[in-house]
Amino acid sequence: MSEYIDKLFSPVKLNGLELRNRVIRAACFEGMCPDGYPSERLIDLHRELAEGGVGLTTVAYCAVEANGRVKEEMMYMHEGIRPQVEQMTRAVHEAGSKISGQMGHCGNFSQNKGFHGKRPLGPSPMINMGGIPVGLPFAGAMTHADIDHVVQCFHDAALFMKSAGFDAVEMHFGHGYGLSQFISPKTNRRMDEYGGSIVNRMRYPLRALEAVRKAVGDDFPILGKMGLTDGVKGGLTIDDAVEVAALLDEGGIDMLIPSGGTSSMNPMLLFRGDSILPGLLKYEKNLVLKLGMIMISPWMFKKYPYEELYFLEGTKRVRDRVKNAKICYIGGASTMESLETVMREFDFVQMGRALVKDPAFVNHAMADPNYVNDCDHCNRCASIILHPDGVRCLSND
Ligand SMILES: Cc1cc2nc3c(=O)[nH]c(=O)nc-3n(C[C@H](O)[C@H](O)[C@H](O)COP(=O)(O)O)c2cc1C
Repeated sequence: MSEYIDKLFSPVKLNGLELRNRVIRAACFEGMCPDGYPSERLIDLHRELAEGGVGLTTVAYCAVEANGRVKEEMMYMHEGIRPQVEQMTRAVHEAGSKISGQMGHCGNFSQNKGFHGKRPLGPSPMINMGGIPVGLPFAGAMTHADIDHVVQCFHDAALFMKSAGFDAVEMHFGHGYGLSQFISPKTNRRMDEYGGSIVNRMRYPLRALEAVRKAVGDDFPILGKMGLTDGVKGGLTIDDAVEVAALLDEGGIDMLIPSGGTSSMNPMLLFRGDSILPGLLKYEKNLVLKLGMIMISPWMFKKYPYEELYFLEGTKRVRDRVKNAKICYIGGASTMESLETVMREFDFVQMGRALVKDPAFVNHAMADPNYVNDCDHCNRCASIILHPDGVRCLSND
């Protein structure tokens, strides 16, 4: 075993949290919360990942408030789901792993039938295409009171998550979700102290980070997933992204996970490979949304061929700018050669599709140095996120 694979599979500490290795299951929306409640299948999935050897598993999309959900079939952090969440965190601990939850807020692009209030809110007014079928065609601009409210929701959600047994939280600063809508100049056209310069655009995300830190205390890991570029005209650039990383680092984040693209404008930048559009169309029940997706598909579903380690250069730029935060690589790390490269350059790795394909990746790779993960990045797992049965690897069927 090379020294880097040895590093990958050796125990390590992250802000006091002992992990049995450096492999983290990336947040991959599971689609296993019917009516917003974590199901037995969700619990089983994370137990299976823990039994399969990951150091840390991440529960996707833990919305910080009910209105922060893109769809009503997502869970939000509140006392009503405590029994199920505690059952899940216990199951992961019993299998020897640790568990994190990705804290998110959808901001301006809600499609949530159960949305309460007039309209979803983001940095600036805009059309909310996805919300048309549920009567939410417009998104408004957040007032200062709205910003204070969501900052408090981040605080309260973090408090709940820690008390329900999560070992870490991962804040979502990327992929076009609420916090990144402020970071991106494409969606943030504000003229007040929350818009304009990168320092201003980071004011709200940094306030959310400060609130989460206050809730969880100094010795609890806070991870942050961020964008390297939006990949759209007028969007976030890599030069801005390294400043975002520096500000999050100064704000006390423990680990940065640089990704890219946005779910609402340029999703293929974050996946690469085969388009997820055919699968999305197959399972989208609403005809208006279907038609909208087809019409905007040439702009939204751009082609990016898959290659291993497609965020390597961008992640190195972040690493070189950051002083304290650990760097976790994400994006096409699925071969043992790629993992060696990642361990030579960075501290941790997050894996999405390779673990959808084989939740026991770690156990298999530790037992067999010639292990090959046969995920072919067909992206059908990502294209079935709307399927009522939840996400899985269709090649395994
Ligand atoms: C089925 C699926 C669902 C995903 N859901 C999320 C999500 O909820 N939050 C997120 O930040 N990224 C999500 N992603 C993106 C992954 O976390 C990751 O950034 C991406 O798949 C690239 O990593 P990989 O090459 O290891 O798969 C999802 C990916 C897949 C395949």
